[in-house]
Amino acid sequence: MPKIIFHHAGGTTDIVEADTGVSVMRAAVQNGVAGIVGECGGQAMCATCHVLVRDPYVSELPPIGEDEEEMLDCTASPRDGRRSRLGCQLTLGVDLQEVEVDVPGSQV
Ligand code: FES
Repeated sequence: MPKIIFHHAGGTTDIVEADTGVSVMRAAVQNGVAGIVGECGGQAMCATCHVLVRDPYVSELPPIGEDEEEMLDCTASPRDGRRSRLGCQLTLGVDLQEVEVDVPGSQV
């Protein structure tokens, strides 16, 4: 099963296993991971699913789409180059089998 490790400020982590085809945002919301909101439901219209992908996974990510690129300019916490992605645009089991992300300090 695809696995996501969410790292929170302060050093705590949440480890979530999700079905293939589920987005990082959806997996977080379904499992009560703090700090991932997903307000627009995955339409790339809110940026409240911002995650900072850790190495070495950054190089395995699919390219940033046009809508995602626009929303990444609207994140509550500063964008961090190629590490910043919208969790709703990363699909487990398709784009990624495993990923580790940092949850930003703020989403709204
Ligand atoms: Fe709104 Fe990802 S859930 S942009």
